[in-house]
Amino acid sequence: MYEKIKATAAWLRERMPSSPSTAIVLGTGLGRLAEEISVTQAFEYKDIPNFPVSTVEGHSGRLIFGKLGNKDILAMQGRFHYYEGYSMKEVTFPVRVMYELGIKTLFVSNAAGGMNPEFKIGDLMIITDHINFFPEHPLHGPNFPTGPRFPDMHEAYDKELVCLADTIAAEKGIKLQHGVYVGTQGPTFETPAEYRMYRTLGGDTVGMSTVPEVIVARHCGIRVFGVSVVTDLGGFDMPVEVSHEEVQEAANKAQPIMTELMREMIVRCDN
Ligand code: HPA
Repeated sequence: MYEKIKATAAWLRERMPSSPSTAIVLGTGLGRLAEEISVTQAFEYKDIPNFPVSTVEGHSGRLIFGKLGNKDILAMQGRFHYYEGYSMKEVTFPVRVMYELGIKTLFVSNAAGGMNPEFKIGDLMIITDHINFFPEHPLHGPNFPTGPRFPDMHEAYDKELVCLADTIAAEKGIKLQHGVYVGTQGPTFETPAEYRMYRTLGGDTVGMSTVPEVIVARHCGIRVFGVSVVTDLGGFDMPVEVSHEEVQEAANKAQPIMTELMREMIVRCDN
């Protein structure tokens, strides 16, 4: 796998127009940010050697090199979910390639169910920590030489970047929640009992992505900033019926503030 990662990185290095140190996973709720990127070059996933190919509705698959404001960035338009059938090594393959290309900071977003009773649909939650509920660990197997066998996870989400988000939110009058994201395999949404369990365990939102990419990013020493868009609510005394369409609709509604926050974060973060 490591050889494949290096080969993919070498292929991209020969073709990429800039050397960005910032990357974005354009998850649900960040489609509009893609429109603000001035694209210098984009590669379809299917054309990149060894890259998995994205299949889910609403996700196209492109790796974009371009500028956001004055910052060179690399953006993944479309991510790989475990529930689609990819292995954890495939889900996290792009993050490993990012590391090889020199990425230092990774921005991620996701759609998530809110379990904290203070949360409302459409809220943005800065992810301050996560709970890994995936059945397979992305670092399972021989250790990659990019990081230690037993990586520290006490600050998976960079505190300085959380502070920057709070500053930007205060300036712009954006309401932000903070909390713990529970990563699960899906593809089912949670039963009421599962929502209650995740809440009892300390979760504020729950979703089907992000945690694998963040673990691998941290294993490579990449700083991470993550945001959940609360697209539905579940848990104690909360409604739990939810559909993919409702999730998409709520995420779309939250797009303008999500886009504003992420754009400012990326332009202002220091690397
Ligand atoms: N659970 C899991 N994943 C999700 C949810 C949820 O409630 N909402 C959006 N993605």
